[in-house]
Amino acid sequence: MADRLVVWVYGTRLATLSRASNLRIAMSWEEAGIARWGRGSRILSTSLPLGEPISARDDAPTNFFEDLLPEGRARDVMARFAGVSPHDTFAILAEWGRECAGAVSLTREGETPPGDDDGSYVGYAANELDHALRRLDRTPLGADATVGFKPSLAGFQRKLLVGRGASGQWQRPIGGAPSTWILKPDGRVPIAENEVACLCLARRVGLSTPLCELIHIGGTPTVAIERYDRHGRKRIHQEDASQATGSPAGFKYEQQGGPSLRSFARILINYGLANDPIDLLRRATFNVVIGNADAHGKNFSVLHPAEDAAITLAPVYDVIATTSLRPVDRHGSPVPNDPTMGQSINGVSDVTQVGRDDLVNEAASWGLRPRRAAEVVDDLIERMRSDTDAPDWLAAVVARRASTLSGRTAPRAVAHGNRRPPIASRSGSPSACGAETTKGVPCRRRGACPYHTP
Ligand SMILES: Nc1ncnc2c1ncn2[C@@H]1O[C@H](COP(=O)(O)OP(=O)(O)O)[C@@H](O)[C@H]1O
Ligand SMILES: [Mg+2]
Repeated sequence: MADRLVVWVYGTRLATLSRASNLRIAMSWEEAGIARWGRGSRILSTSLPLGEPISARDDAPTNFFEDLLPEGRARDVMARFAGVSPHDTFAILAEWGRECAGAVSLTREGETPPGDDDGSYVGYAANELDHALRRLDRTPLGADATVGFKPSLAGFQRKLLVGRGASGQWQRPIGGAPSTWILKPDGRVPIAENEVACLCLARRVGLSTPLCELIHIGGTPTVAIERYDRHGRKRIHQEDASQATGSPAGFKYEQQGGPSLRSFARILINYGLANDPIDLLRRATFNVVIGNADAHGKNFSVLHPAEDAAITLAPVYDVIATTSLRPVDRHGSPVPNDPTMGQSINGVSDVTQVGRDDLVNEAASWGLRPRRAAEVVDDLIERMRSDTDAPDWLAAVVARRASTLSGRTAPRAVAHGNRRPPIASRSGSPSACGAETTKGVPCRRRGACPYHTP
């Protein structure tokens, strides 16, 4: 069994991993990475500055690398394949770490990482794709050790990682070739049609999304989405918000210790492009309007271009109008639909209860000017309301939610220490300022309060 693993990013030897106590992973930096990107670079993760000493008792490497693996059954099967415990992240990654999300690769000492031009693709013959989908519980992600394809990708839903030929044909990656598309088939609860409708709506209202289609494989509705961390065959490094904020591994929901929207926004403000926090606000608004309670630390990601110090917010993925789903338990009996969001907005955790002012106040707590935040929120609500191409069920959800959101004017207590005032709605009477006064009570002046408006 390997006792050391080499971490490669963009083909450069960046660090080595070894086992530490209590199934933790210890990491030490390598000179080659420091020579390429410089000490302090965040090329691997914004939570792991390059070259900074990391004690063997530090959980940060374990948190980052564990988040490269899937959750649930896929992870268990990968562990079983490796002959190790599902808790032994290091040992699972020793078997499955060569081909991960982004441009990170883990190899044994003496091996080289897969190059962008390595390997090839073979088209799936008729019925083979259906067969591959049916086998996902036994061969997660479409892994096939006989052709050197043993990838890892985070997430809970079953996925098949594939290539795609020029004529659109789905292909099996062979011998180190990167997968370039993800196929997510429906499971017990039908999601694919919902997810594709939401992604297409996101694209129409101006959010950045990967190419995506609803396809049917052997009659199973399936999301087909292009990988945004592959440009052609070139791997582009990505990490999710849980990794970027250094959150405890496996905790994607804020209530469990996963990142809040505000902590992720801070990462974007510190290391991202100027417009990224605005984009994050537009996405939060989008999720509220469609009723997506499943936005959490692993459903936002950032890209780390090889030659650029700044990160960028990755395109939108895994957006689902969850409040429109009809969830069932494993016996097929209906269970209540939980509107609790993975990340609260201005302290409100029920997605059906978030108001326009909550979105504005949330963004103000990141440091955005409230007036600008209000423009962004109103603009996105208006774009969604004006969309005419959504399926009827989604159009109805959007119409209902958009009108309650834009009609809302009542201020809500501002959460997590945000002292900025809520902004008056465009329609209706202006809301109260709401900022904390020197007497410790909310300011009740209406409109642009001369004392508290920045
Ligand atoms: N289009 C994509 N391109 C690249 N990576 C993606 C894409 N969609 C998802 N991912 C990565 O795969 C992970 C799991 O995908 P996701 O769609 O969120 O699956 P799940 O429904 O299982 O949560 C994400 O956290 C992200 O890192
Ligand atoms: Mg997800």
